[in-house]
Amino acid sequence: MDIQKILNNLFHLGREILKQKDIQTLLLSIADITRNLLNADRCSIFIYDKENDVLYTKVAHGIDPIVIPKDKGIVGFTFSTGEVQIVFDAYEDRRFFPEIDKLTGYTTKSLITAPLIDSHNKIFGVVEVINKQTGFFSSLDAELLVLSSSYISSILENAFLNELIKESHTKVILKLSTAAEFKDEETSLHTKRVAIYSSIIAESMNLEKEFVSNITITAPMHDVGKIGIPDKILNKPGKLTKDEFEIIKTHPTIGFNILFDENSDLLKMAANISKDHHEKWNGTGYPDKLEKDNISLEGRIVAIADVFDALTSKRPYKAAWTFERALTLIKEESGKHFDPELTECFLNNENKIRDTYETYKE
Ligand code: C2E
Ligand code: SIN
Ligand code: SIN
Ligand code: SIN
Ligand code: FE
Ligand code: FE
Repeated sequence: MDIQKILNNLFHLGREILKQKDIQTLLLSIADITRNLLNADRCSIFIYDKENDVLYTKVAHGIDPIVIPKDKGIVGFTFSTGEVQIVFDAYEDRRFFPEIDKLTGYTTKSLITAPLIDSHNKIFGVVEVINKQTGFFSSLDAELLVLSSSYISSILENAFLNELIKESHTKVILKLSTAAEFKDEETSLHTKRVAIYSSIIAESMNLEKEFVSNITITAPMHDVGKIGIPDKILNKPGKLTKDEFEIIKTHPTIGFNILFDENSDLLKMAANISKDHHEKWNGTGYPDKLEKDNISLEGRIVAIADVFDALTSKRPYKAAWTFERALTLIKEESGKHFDPELTECFLNNENKIRDTYETYKE
């Protein structure tokens, strides 16, 4: 194989990794590059599934996801020993596991495998390349495969750690919103409905899946700053004085300061929602009198969800409005209090909104 082709593929590999796409897309492009690098037909990435004690294909060319016993085949051999294996004729090798060929109607001839090893030196999977197009897999191929496998390993390990971090942030956020509910006489149903209304708007705007899932987690946090507001103001049965309202107006900033964390997308979103949920499209809201797109998208979405829910709920200071009356106010405030495009998304989904309103009624 010529050196130019190897270099091209390696540069391509580096560029793909820097692009930081989602994990599955990234692994698929690394599998493509590895296959090209080794001049072969297919590349599969097997991951160990602890719960079921099997190896499954996270990525595989030309086949549906498959599961094999962790000790079967050349793949199983590499998984248990950590050894790179080069096989010239699979059907001449006693260890070969032909079930996959039977399933797919494909004929494996030559193959090469390398282990996936995490930073604690633990083997957690195998990368396999099948059918060299001309000639045999060489020791250079083995070295290139080990290089690919080290990229694949660190990408997977990072993804796995990020997953854990995100899970723990989600837990902290849920605990914090429970704390805020103890303080306020609002219920967990309120935060639940605000989360669902927000996700309905985000979905209808065709925003990314990740955004929709993150706003569902973080929308309940919008009033966490009320932790810093005296109970006697918060739960006052009647109308607030001007001074009392000035104190209420500090809750978005208090919440922002509690939540903001530069290193977490989730906590940044939660902080923006807290800071921006009382801003108004026409620039007359608080705390910063932000206008239009200067208000974060997540803040503009939650503003609609929160007001609609506040209106249709009973508060110490007001009775619950009917569904129709609340909807009318939202409509009237389009382009004034609320982003008109988002308001339209909200109003277009009246049926879903009504379902949520009925299902999570107090
Ligand atoms: P909240 O009760 O969760 O209300 C959120 C937002 O929903 C309000 O933000 C307002 O935009 C809208 N909203 C709620 N009730 C009504 C209403 O009867 N009519 C209209 N047009 N809009 C309504 P806002 O005004 O910035 O208030 C923020 C928070 O301040 C409220 O959160 C509540 O905790 C407190 N608050 C506001 N007004 C009063 C009041 O008169 N008495 C008491 N005790 N608290 C109040
Ligand atoms: C084997 O590892 O023995 C077979 C794996 C495959 O066909 O993909
Ligand atoms: C995985 O992502 O499934 C495994 C990652 C690891 O164990 O390091
Ligand atoms: C999180 O969002 O909390 C996980 C880490 C990140 O994506 O910033
Ligand atoms: Fe608020
Ligand atoms: Fe609220």
